[in-house]
Amino acid sequence: MTVRYGVPGISARPTWFPAPAVARTAPLGATKKPLPLIIDSDPGLDDALAIGLACARPELDLLAVTTVGGNADVRHCTENALRLLHRYGRDDVPVAEGAAGAILGEVIRAPEIHGVSGIGNTVLDPSPNAARAEGAVELIASILRSHPEKVAIAPVGPLTNIALLIRLHPELVDRIAHLSIMGGSIGEGNKTVSAEFNIYADPEAADVVFRSGIQITMMGLDVTHQALLDGAAVERLRKTDTASGGVAADLVDFALARERAWYDAPAAAIHDAVAVAHLAIGDLVSVAEYHVEVDVTHGPARGRTVCEGYPRRLARSGQVVNAQVGIHLDPKRFEDVLVDAYARLP
Ligand code: BDR
Ligand code: CA
Repeated sequence: MTVRYGVPGISARPTWFPAPAVARTAPLGATKKPLPLIIDSDPGLDDALAIGLACARPELDLLAVTTVGGNADVRHCTENALRLLHRYGRDDVPVAEGAAGAILGEVIRAPEIHGVSGIGNTVLDPSPNAARAEGAVELIASILRSHPEKVAIAPVGPLTNIALLIRLHPELVDRIAHLSIMGGSIGEGNKTVSAEFNIYADPEAADVVFRSGIQITMMGLDVTHQALLDGAAVERLRKTDTASGGVAADLVDFALARERAWYDAPAAAIHDAVAVAHLAIGDLVSVAEYHVEVDVTHGPARGRTVCEGYPRRLARSGQVVNAQVGIHLDPKRFEDVLVDAYARLP
């Protein structure tokens, strides 16, 4: 049998180029030297798990959570961020609210997936804190300005705040150690056949970010669809016997109900946690190099992340690699990482 590019039974060249795994460029936190990190997020079921993961991992020093309108109205996202941090025992982490919606075009939401509140049916106790008055972009800017080290950012919602930061404070771009983004896809999207939700929700902002020259890891659907939790994982989260573990179990349960109803699927992807996990665990996610360009036209490919990894075409076009893209993770290990994190939280 003919085998080409590892695909048995065909002699034709496949219509996709499987770029090889390379050494990561993303910085890696260590317990002795935690990585300073800001999460920019639209919580969001999977955002909530990503924030919990960052709170629990000793390799990460969570400096702030900023919010952006996406899965839910930004006011819900901000309240969710405050209450989640309170639940996770991290009232010390400041929260600031950012853009309500895309820079251009319509405001996109996902209540059919995350519920109108953004966190399904879960009701959390109020936080004693309020969101910081300066807003998301200015809070990120002041942290970048004053922190002794460069700071990593994990944007796990639409990229509106990050694009505004780049445009309002270009002098601070080189204070960003890395962007570990959840968004995009080498293959098909989820919001449309072409586009993943976070990129579709603000393609112009994503375009600014991918052209910025900042070091980027893109955790797209290709890898986050391997980051699955099923009913058995929900039981493991519940059995952590922590209140935070119970919250995580409820959030994943809500996501699972939709997966079963829509796709008859037994597991839900916890997309956003992948972008955070990569900064704490060196060998969880393998990455490959691509030139990523965002389609900002208004046709059927709007919001697509066009990922070019084929060396000959890159050389011909003069395009340069601007991102590492997640291609593989071990689902069992990912599940263990989340269960372990929620066992450590209050
Ligand atoms: C992304 O879209 C949102 O609904 C999730 O929180 C995640 O960030 C997945 O496409
Ligand atoms: Ca999100």
